[in-house]
Parts: sequence; C-alpha cells; structure tokens
Amino acid sequence: MTNVLVVGSGGREHALAWRVSQSDMVDTVYTAPGNGGTPDNIPIQPEDIGRLADFAAERGCFTIVGPEAPLAAGIVDAFTERGLDIFGPTQAAARLESSKAWAKGFMGRHRIRTARSAVFDDASKAAEYVDSVDYDVVIKADGLAAGKGVVVCGSVQEAKDAIRSIMEQERFGGAGRRIVIEERLSGVESSYIAMCDGRVAAPMATSQDHKRIYDNDEGPNTGGMGAYSPAPHVDADMADTIQSEIIDRTLSGMKEERCPLTGFLYAGIMIQDGTPYVLEYNVRMGDPECQPIVMRMDFDLYEYAAAAASGKLASMPPPRWRPEHAVCVVLAARGYPGAYPKGQPISIPHTDEHTTVFHAGTARRDGQLLSSGGRVLGVTSLGGTLRQAVERAYRAADGIGWSGKYCRRDIAAKAL
Ligand code: AMP
Ligand code: GLY
Repeated sequence: MTNVLVVGSGGREHALAWRVSQSDMVDTVYTAPGNGGTPDNIPIQPEDIGRLADFAAERGCFTIVGPEAPLAAGIVDAFTERGLDIFGPTQAAARLESSKAWAKGFMGRHRIRTARSAVFDDASKAAEYVDSVDYDVVIKADGLAAGKGVVVCGSVQEAKDAIRSIMEQERFGGAGRRIVIEERLSGVESSYIAMCDGRVAAPMATSQDHKRIYDNDEGPNTGGMGAYSPAPHVDADMADTIQSEIIDRTLSGMKEERCPLTGFLYAGIMIQDGTPYVLEYNVRMGDPECQPIVMRMDFDLYEYAAAAASGKLASMPPPRWRPEHAVCVVLAARGYPGAYPKGQPISIPHTDEHTTVFHAGTARRDGQLLSSGGRVLGVTSLGGTLRQAVERAYRAADGIGWSGKYCRRDIAAKAL
C-alpha cells in the first residue's frame, strides 16, 4: 500500500484523486491544496515544490501532478533528484506546453502535422508578416497563459490589434513577449490524451471540450465549460492515425532530443478535411476532459501511473474503458471568465448513482460549502447512451442549490 499526493486544486485534480482513491493499492490520497470536495487537503501551493517534496517524503507518497505551472517549474526534476516517485514530465519535456515556439519547432523537426507558422519577438515585424500572408491567422502568446493566450482572428486588423495587446500592452504578461502567428484552421476539434512512460503511450478514451462561455460556441474562451467521452468524430481509423502520426512521433522525437516524455500527453487536434493537425500540446490531463475520462476508466489509474513513472507501461495490458458515455457539465460563477462573485453558499443534493459532482472552485468554511473560483463544479454522469448521460448530468446540475450558477445548456449537443 502506498499514499498518493495529487498536486492542484481544480476539477481535474478532484477527478484524479477520486479515481486513484478506488485503487486497492492505495491507502490515503492527499490533495495539495485541494478544494471543498477533496477529502484530505494539505495547505501547500503547487508552486511550493520544496515543501511538497518534504510532505511526499514524510508520508511516503507517489505524486501525480495536475496543472502545468509546477511541471514547467521543474517539480518532476526536483522530486526525482530526491528519490521521490512522481508521474509527470521533466521541465525539459514540459517545453511542449510551456513554449509554443519550441513546440512548433519540434513539430517541424519531426514531421508532425500542424498549421503553418512563424515566431516573432518584434511587434512591427509581426504586423508586416500579417500583411504578407493571404490567410486568416491565430496569434498565440509563446508562454503559459492559463489557456487564454490565443486570439483567433477574422481580419488583418484584428490580428494587428492582438499583436499590440499581447506584445506591447502585455495582456498575458511576460508570456507574450514572444508570439507565434499561425494559419487559422477550420474543422472539428478534439482532445487526444495518452499516458506516456518515455517510450510508449497508452491512449485514453477520446473526448471533446467546449471552450467558449456561451451556447453554440459563442463568446470568449474559458478553461472549458464541459466535455464528453467518447468523441464520435474520432473513429477507430482517426484514432489510429492520431496515435501513429502524432502521439508516437512526438514520443520518439522527444526521446531523440534527449528529453523523453513521461506523463499525460494531450494533443489538441483540429480535424480539417479528414486530416488531423496539432493545435497545441499540453503535458497534463485536460480540465474538464479528465472528469468524463476518469468516469469511464475500467482500470486502476494508480497502477498505470506508477507503471508509466517507472518506464514499464509496455508490460501493462491496454487500458480498458467502460462502454457507457460520460458527460461533464461545468457550473461556473455568473460573470466568468470576467469578474464574478465568490463566497456564495452552495448545496448539493444526493445525486443518482451514475453521477459524480467534481468540485473545482469550492471551499468549506464552518461546514458550509462556498464558491471560491470561476469554474465551480463539474457535474459528470454516465449513461448507456450519450442522450441519457446528458439528461442525467443536467438533471443533477439543475438540482444544485446556488443562486449564482451558470452553465452552457448545449454540452455534447453537437454529437447528438
Ligand atoms: P490553444 O490554447 O492553443 O488550445 O488554443 C485555444 C483555442 O484556440 C483552440 O481550442 C482552438 O479553438 C483555437 N485555435 C488554436 N489554434 C488554432 C488554429 N491554428 N486555427 C484555428 N483555431 C485555433
Ligand atoms: N480543457 C482544455 C485544457 O485543459 O487545456
């Protein structure tokens, strides 16, 4: 038996902790700092790598890292140096997510299909480039910007405005000192996530996120307003293509460049005219994609993460998935992704046995559950059909007592 430490405080981390706590091989699952739904919270922030390592050493924990910031800051390198077991990429491997310019260069070196692009450190050269190309573009801050550093542009003027706001007004701080300008693709988006041990990748179930705040994909981008699994537009053939031409090539490329990738590899994919292109890499689970994916896991997540961390994924059977559909509806605080109130009381009634309410921005004070963030809960249901999963998730979401809640009403509607 071992203890597990999950680093992070969102819906993804609650979902990971919930699934890992069902393992016969696991004793206590701690979450640092956790939220109002995770049972054993440790008040250490994800950036406080030294104290996290002290805690993991003292309690004999295997550590799983949720968010990208500590990975980019080198938490895996620091734990490994101290002989502590941890599942996640090294700082060098995390460049796939922490520098979009590096990731684009990497894809070029290893023939991984992605949109045409150029990198700029200079705003006036960037603006000239926008004038010189005959297609719509997307402007991306190079560094980490909490999933918000991308502006999809519909005109040259919009692109120039985005360049000015990112590079000169530093809308995303230092993350936007360098930018990537990329051809705007169109098609169907999908999240393809695999568990990696440096050499091989075990694919997770397919899923799709809903990035915009309003129904019909309108309004500003958010961290994600809901997700479902499986994603019907990624059939077995498409999954094979993505696995061989994107995931496997990424792993072998990283090995060749002497920064093998261990951890979750998340490829944000655009399928355009039947061909998959990489929009972005993340080196962690998606949030909210993680919530429906863990609900469908028919294997011991701890066992697989431990095998991956020690380079032994090849000796494990392929992960098994429950045949049901899973849908996660995110309940956000009205106003998100702009300003929103915090500290509002929430009551969660008993849900049916097919539904789990994962917490994200919640906290408990004197026994009362309160909202404490923008994305607050992820109501996640299984169903024999996608329609049944959707109905169950919305029935549970509508029963939650909280005056300030907002959710999209069309999660998974595209697939119905
Ligand atoms: P990212 O943070 O890179 O996933 O980008 C956020 C969102 O911007 C994606 O989910 C897409 O909807 C959109 N996006 C990013 N790159 C492109 C592109 N080259 N063409 C069209 N849309 C894009
Ligand atoms: N749901 C998108 C992300 O985790 O980046």
